[in-house]
Amino acid sequence: MVAEVINGNEVAKSIRAEIKIEVSKLKKAGIEPGLVVIIVGEDPASQVYVRKKGEACNDLGICSETVRLPASTTENELLALIDNYNKNPKFDGILVQLPLPKHISEEKVLLRIDPGKDVDGFHPVNVGKMVVGSESYLPCTPHGVQELLIRSGNDPSGKHVVVLGRSNIVGKPVACILIQKAKGADATVTICHSRTKNLAEMTRQADILIAAIGSPGFVKADMVKDGVVVIDVGVNRISDPSAKSGTRLVGDVDFDAVKVKAKAITPVPGGVGPMTITMLMQNTLKAAKVHHGWKD
Ligand SMILES: NC(=O)c1ccc[n+]([C@@H]2O[C@H](COP(=O)([O-])OP(=O)(O)OC[C@H]3O[C@@H](n4cnc5c(N)ncnc54)[C@H](OP(=O)(O)O)[C@@H]3O)[C@@H](O)[C@H]2O)c1
Repeated sequence: MVAEVINGNEVAKSIRAEIKIEVSKLKKAGIEPGLVVIIVGEDPASQVYVRKKGEACNDLGICSETVRLPASTTENELLALIDNYNKNPKFDGILVQLPLPKHISEEKVLLRIDPGKDVDGFHPVNVGKMVVGSESYLPCTPHGVQELLIRSGNDPSGKHVVVLGRSNIVGKPVACILIQKAKGADATVTICHSRTKNLAEMTRQADILIAAIGSPGFVKADMVKDGVVVIDVGVNRISDPSAKSGTRLVGDVDFDAVKVKAKAITPVPGGVGPMTITMLMQNTLKAAKVHHGWKD
């Protein structure tokens, strides 16, 4: 068996086309969705993500503002800025790019964002709503994983999903989303982490395997069963002398080896990556609708 390669770029493109139509409907009614992205410091990967978020907004007709602050910004200065954007009706979504410099508490910053503008879905109010299955802003990468599964014809309902990784950003929320009693969920989920014993025995039971550990090529062919669906969230830069830059991106899965056994698999890059920003755009659109009492 050679797996179908799930094309995240194509899935993201079709969702973005849907968002664009919705944004233009809102604009005709005088509503312009707005997103502010705040970045503190010079982390190169964060700079790239922030630029891509701005470009996605421009492409979809969402008003965007990027606030670039020096690494020396104090916690109080950042909190005061968030307070201003919480009050500013022009912006439906506020995103503070992580990681933050060490002297600023991420927890305090995330708590300060109005949960109604928390389009990253990291505020404890939104996390709590996600857990109990009520309407909320879902975190973008885990929500993107769910959408990829559904739109590639791999509905997780009734399936055994094994998640590798238990971070608050990916592992825990993706498990939480997929166990909900809801359409596109209803999975039986096992979460594994660095203390899990007999990991390969666990992963071999997966109908759907979601890898989010940050370890290049960790999942080998003998760790999966025939016909598994593999979603590779990992993004790891490894050295590659044959590449122009001397490096390339790989996932947490040994793609070439696992592809031969899998029913479907996401590549890195071009799998989960494009979905994350797309779901951020969807959350921003949703926030604009909520703020303006828009009914579909
Ligand atoms: N595509 C995207 O948009 C996107 C978004 C976010 C993250 N990512 C990528 O996804 C990966 C995970 O990100 P993250 O933020 O969740 O990472 P993280 O916070 O470092 O968490 C990694 C998790 O993996 C577990 N783990 C590490 N090594 C393991 C091993 N050998 N066996 C079993 N479990 C192991 C850790 O277990 P412990 O808890 O026991 O330490 C932890 O729960 C990274 O490559 C990141 O770049 C991609």
